[in-house]
Amino acid sequence: MKKLLLSLLVATKSSIACQREFPDEHFSSQFARSSDTLTARAEPFPPVWTKNEAILHRAFDSVELETWASYYTHGDHIAGRNKSMAEETAKKWNANGVPSSLVEYEVYLNYPESQKLVLNRANGSKYEAQLWEDKIAEDETTEYPGSIPAFHGYSASGDVEAEYVYVGRAHKDDFAALKSASINLEGKIALAKYGGPFRGIKVKNAEANGMVGVVIFTDPGDDGPQEAKGQAAYPKGPARQPSSIQRGSVAYIDRYVGDPTTPGWPSKPGVPRESNPTILPKIPSLPISFRDAYPILKALDGYGKAGKDMRRDSWVGGLNVTYSTGPAPGITLSLSNKMKDATTPIWNVIGIINGTNADETIVVGNHRDAWIIGGAADPNSGTAMLIEITRAFGELLKTGWKPRRNIVFASWDAEEYALIGSTEWVEEFAPWLADTVISYLNIDIAVNGPLPGASATPELRGIAQSVMKKVIYGNRTLYDAWYSLYRFRPEDNGFGNLGSGSDYTAFLQLGIGALDFGMGPGSTDPVYHYHSNYDSYHWMKTLVDPTYAIHTTAGQYIALLAYHLADDPLLPYDLDAFGRNLDYWARDVTSLTISCCGSAGATQQAVNLTTLIDAFRRFKDVAKQYQKVTSTDAFLQDDAKVQATNAKLKKLLRLFVREAGLPDRGFYKTALFAPNREDGYKAQTLPAVVEGLQDRNLSQAKEWNLFLVDAVDKASEMFTLP
Ligand SMILES: *[C@@H]1O[C@H](CO)[C@@H](O)[C@H](O)[C@H]1NC(C)=O
Ligand SMILES: *[C@@H]1O[C@H](CO)[C@@H](O)[C@H](O)[C@H]1NC(C)=O
Ligand SMILES: *[C@@H]1O[C@H](CO)[C@@H](O)[C@H](O)[C@H]1NC(C)=O
Ligand SMILES: *[C@@H]1O[C@H](CO)[C@@H](O)[C@H](O)[C@H]1NC(C)=O
Ligand SMILES: *[C@@H]1O[C@H](CO)[C@@H](O)[C@H](O)[C@H]1NC(C)=O
Ligand SMILES: *[C@@H]1O[C@H](CO)[C@@H](O)[C@H](O)[C@H]1NC(C)=O
Ligand SMILES: *[C@@H]1O[C@H](CO)[C@@H](O)[C@H](O)[C@H]1NC(C)=O
Ligand SMILES: [Zn+2]
Repeated sequence: MKKLLLSLLVATKSSIACQREFPDEHFSSQFARSSDTLTARAEPFPPVWTKNEAILHRAFDSVELETWASYYTHGDHIAGRNKSMAEETAKKWNANGVPSSLVEYEVYLNYPESQKLVLNRANGSKYEAQLWEDKIAEDETTEYPGSIPAFHGYSASGDVEAEYVYVGRAHKDDFAALKSASINLEGKIALAKYGGPFRGIKVKNAEANGMVGVVIFTDPGDDGPQEAKGQAAYPKGPARQPSSIQRGSVAYIDRYVGDPTTPGWPSKPGVPRESNPTILPKIPSLPISFRDAYPILKALDGYGKAGKDMRRDSWVGGLNVTYSTGPAPGITLSLSNKMKDATTPIWNVIGIINGTNADETIVVGNHRDAWIIGGAADPNSGTAMLIEITRAFGELLKTGWKPRRNIVFASWDAEEYALIGSTEWVEEFAPWLADTVISYLNIDIAVNGPLPGASATPELRGIAQSVMKKVIYGNRTLYDAWYSLYRFRPEDNGFGNLGSGSDYTAFLQLGIGALDFGMGPGSTDPVYHYHSNYDSYHWMKTLVDPTYAIHTTAGQYIALLAYHLADDPLLPYDLDAFGRNLDYWARDVTSLTISCCGSAGATQQAVNLTTLIDAFRRFKDVAKQYQKVTSTDAFLQDDAKVQATNAKLKKLLRLFVREAGLPDRGFYKTALFAPNREDGYKAQTLPAVVEGLQDRNLSQAKEWNLFLVDAVDKASEMFTLP
């Protein structure tokens, strides 16, 4: 049971970041997390603060948070369409005391023009999907005239009519199962359900199998027990509103992110552009609600192979159909998707507090664009928080305080299409960032429930945990809530690994460590209407955070964490945790070798995996020793030693960056982790070695094995005490 719980908890992390979905393991069967587990623990309460911590903590005002949340969730702010919102943000940050301005790029996007989906039954009757959420009187933004229809960002334009096949979550393994069941896919439309792989990967897989269009639906079976309990749907209760639709990008983010037409360079006006980017789908796709999915699935009942016989996890969902594959002869879908191309400005807001040490910088960011008028959780819970975080630092500046390190605040545009604002900015300032940045803190879906969750590079896990002890959450500390959820995960300190799906992605490729934090739902909490019109101010106010207390706690946490990263004399990296986690990743590789290449022993020898394991173990020991010594008062009082150590710590993750990048996807440059290529959201640790083994390309595995051994040996050398 414990082992199962562990993997469930790892999966749960994916739900916090933008563009992420709830993976199979999480929502289909069991729930690892529940609000009921938020029991108090004996951390000192109230926490003991230093003077500066107290100023930051007390600066937060829940009324201000709510006011700004309301502002950000009552206007169209799809990427590139609301400059005034960027200007208001910069104006407010400036008023808060943080010098801020807009940074503009010119990027390729596409916007919905007309969408239509019709089911043509064999008897001639038709069913047309609604492709809009129902308007709900009490949720005012659902009635806004400029509401954004159901569409997929970067989807191809096209009109197709064809028979269709239900393809499960459209994972590569789902297609393999369909092929082994001899289901004909060529020329058909794929009917896929959300969950598992990033939606762009679903489309990519369908395209690779000769299919001509994709329809992706939300399945209530992924929502946990709410429906089964018969609880009322939004707005009457916590269950999913039947017309809710998940919009989102279908770019192939496993290859690269940022403006598809400027891979690797900033999208400034007049720069050269790729005319045929490899990350854009060639076939049209549309998202639909479960209410519209029902008749379409139902029409396949009895055709092809029945869902239960596919023997794939979560193939069968929560609707009353057999989830048969089809195709059903003569029953077709007509899918029409017309998109309007645009090369158009987008606006990041960048605010900077100069530190006394110009060589070290931290960056705190969140995106501002949303697929819908609302976006109360994704992303504007975080956007509202940044207003209060800049205000809190403004209060501190008023006392004459100056941070040791530069602090950069960022409100990114066009994250939703392909993490564009952050990636273009990183591409423009890469040399300076690689030179100075210590860490990047990301708050995307900052609040969509009451439970803390985070993914982070391992060196940040120690400080990320200890700062939770300084933050009040109701009648306990944030750490108490954290502890009750994650105490039984010592092997990763309760943190997930970063794959992709939000704005930390480009930073990681420069060898900059990152943390992605958010408060998410447990099993009994209201269903999150991800990328739907119901991710609205009204939903947040009535069902999730009526007093904005959760927003307040999350904002205070990020402010205090940023403060410590920016101002602690010794960089608060947990080298010990870094060593332990990397050691775990290295040992994890050996579990793959049997499935790969015959006997485990032979493969390990061929690739020389033992050297990898040994090198990482050596580093683990060095790191542990180092952590011990650098924690002593004698060390901390020696300023020269502290400065020298900081310079080394800054280089730590850079050691693992390989300029040429991973095979076939050179954008991803760190050898430590990348988005899993079959999933897009999830992390793959030591990807080039693992993928070499999976592909039976032993020369690749060997080459990257050597690179990693060399890199980690350098780290060992750097941190070995004289
Ligand atoms: C931009 O967003 C603001 C705040 O939500 C809203 O008031 C305004 O109408 C939006 N502007 C446009 C052009 O949609
Ligand atoms: C066609 O089939 C559908 C679904 O079985 C049914 O609801 C509808 O009444 C039928 N229409 C005609 C004209 O037979
Ligand atoms: C599910 O569908 C079957 C077959 O159409 C029907 O007999 C049954 O009553 C349905 N069950 C529910 C709970 O609606
Ligand atoms: C911060 O430092 C930069 C680089 O030295 C300088 O250009 C800028 O004017 C400084 N900003 C403030 C507000 O002092
Ligand atoms: C904190 O508050 C909750 C809910 O109000 C209550 O159940 C719990 O007992 C309280 N814990 C402490 C330590 O006071
Ligand atoms: C494995 O690596 C070690 C250390 O680099 C080296 O001494 C050894 O010869 C290698 N073995 C093989 C089979 O390549
Ligand atoms: C195996 O990997 C090597 C080194 O990365 C590469 O040059 C080669 O093309 C790969 N072979 C195949 C069959 O993909
Ligand atoms: Zn987001």
